[in-house]
Amino acid sequence: MTNNTGRKRDVAASFSDATDGYLDGNILKHGADLEQLIDWCRDATCALDVATGAGHVAGSLADAGVSRVVASDLSPAMVQTATTEYRGLEGVAVDAERLPFPADRFDAVTCRFAAHHFPDPEAFLAEVERVLEPGGVFAFEDLCVPDDPELAADINRIERLRDSGHVETYSRAQWLDWLAATDLTVETVHETSRELEVDAWLDRMAVPEGDRQRIRSLLSDAPADLAEAFEFQYEGDGDRLASYRTGVVLLHATG
Ligand SMILES: C[S@@+](CC[C@H](N)C(=O)[O-])C[C@H]1O[C@@H](n2cnc3c(N)ncnc32)[C@H](O)[C@@H]1O
Repeated sequence: MTNNTGRKRDVAASFSDATDGYLDGNILKHGADLEQLIDWCRDATCALDVATGAGHVAGSLADAGVSRVVASDLSPAMVQTATTEYRGLEGVAVDAERLPFPADRFDAVTCRFAAHHFPDPEAFLAEVERVLEPGGVFAFEDLCVPDDPELAADINRIERLRDSGHVETYSRAQWLDWLAATDLTVETVHETSRELEVDAWLDRMAVPEGDRQRIRSLLSDAPADLAEAFEFQYEGDGDRLASYRTGVVLLHATG
């Protein structure tokens, strides 16, 4: 952790305080997106799940018959949660941008809903490319923003208030540009969206009451184009935001 060391330490600490929310949150535990990632890795024998959180991807890989699954995360408490919850996983606390594995070690690498925390996404992709054997599968999912830079900046500002470890959510085009600069070959890209219930979204990061109020008032005052782009839904006919939809990019590349 030579770069961004302080920031990464803070991220690890904030996620270590949020293990329960990530373990129990149904939004991460199940879903067609998770099934898609696992299906892309169906022939794998030795997989690495980067930024495993509570281990939902790693556990699903093991359940699908991948014989060796390494669940890795910056937060030791998350690794502990994942390896306790799902049997048969190897756990390791490591930084996604500095993976302590030799070249060509894995035939699948997965990473779901975490890269918006990485200060240097290109360093992460370079590490994926290095540890993935030729022909191996990289199955990736993260939040994504519209191409409009103002909308992207607005939503990232709100995300950072909710989670100080949020670095940036990027657009699908940005991920494809970065991948084009690697030797990984993108085979499939889907852009979807998912509904985030605001209370549950705040609960997952255990956001304190004062910050919840600030985020809620920012959301209430959000510009109309932001509310429209992210499909804000209000409770009843009031102005309390119940949910919004965020973009999601899902892709599969080969080494
Ligand atoms: C939203 S959770 C991941 C969810 C999980 N992948 C799933 O599908 O259920 C984000 C995780 O990223 C981890 N993380 C953040 N920055 C990281 C980094 N630089 N290297 C590795 N893990 C990191 C956090 O500790 C946290 O556990």
